[in-house]
Amino acid sequence: MLIQSAYLTIGSFFIPISYATAITGNRHLSKGLDLIHKVLSRPLDVGISHLDKCLSLGRMDLENHEGFKDYINSLITVFIGHHHGEDEILFPTFEEKIKGADFSKLKKQHKEIHPIAERIKDKINVSDPSVNNYEDVRNLLQEMKGLWIEHRDEEEGIVELDMEPLISSKEQIELNDKLSKHGQDMSEPANLILPFLIYNLERSDRDTFTDDMPWILKNFVVPIIWKSKWEKMKPFLIA
Ligand SMILES: [Fe+2]
Ligand SMILES: [Fe+2]
Repeated sequence: MLIQSAYLTIGSFFIPISYATAITGNRHLSKGLDLIHKVLSRPLDVGISHLDKCLSLGRMDLENHEGFKDYINSLITVFIGHHHGEDEILFPTFEEKIKGADFSKLKKQHKEIHPIAERIKDKINVSDPSVNNYEDVRNLLQEMKGLWIEHRDEEEGIVELDMEPLISSKEQIELNDKLSKHGQDMSEPANLILPFLIYNLERSDRDTFTDDMPWILKNFVVPIIWKSKWEKMKPFLIA
């Protein structure tokens, strides 16, 4: 128990991971954004396709229901934490730096997505889930995906073309670190969120994402010590 809580502390201290040393060149900000956006994009497709399969069979997947619930709850937690970091840190940094910078469209898109995310959370956490409930979650995920893709593509373009060139490599690393520290507070429980972040990425992206992470955390704590906590999500992750 003592060991478990010590590892929980280690885990929450290092989430989400800083990309600072893993990326070469002057594209720290957009590379960091690209990775976290991939973590947010894949589960929408995985969730929709899982629910489509259940709906086509006309039944729920009771065996994997708890894992699916953890998976979708983790998605919503990371989603809200990521957008909060952008609203509180990323956008204000550039509003201060660039006279007349206008992030109102991106902020408005965040505000449009969040009520849907909250509704998904409400629907997935019901005590008595049903096929109808699965259908509602599926439709909400689809609605969220539409808004998310539009927002993601627009934001990535703005960051890469308009924002990143205006700041030095050092400033980008500092900004990424600030965003990472902010994310730490919003990434609980660590024993679900950290595996969710890592195992929604393909191998090469995962290596970049975990490059700064302590060896013991990525090779021992997450895959071994925490496995019993997150393994229910395994059918939805990239093993
Ligand atoms: Fe974003
Ligand atoms: Fe955003």
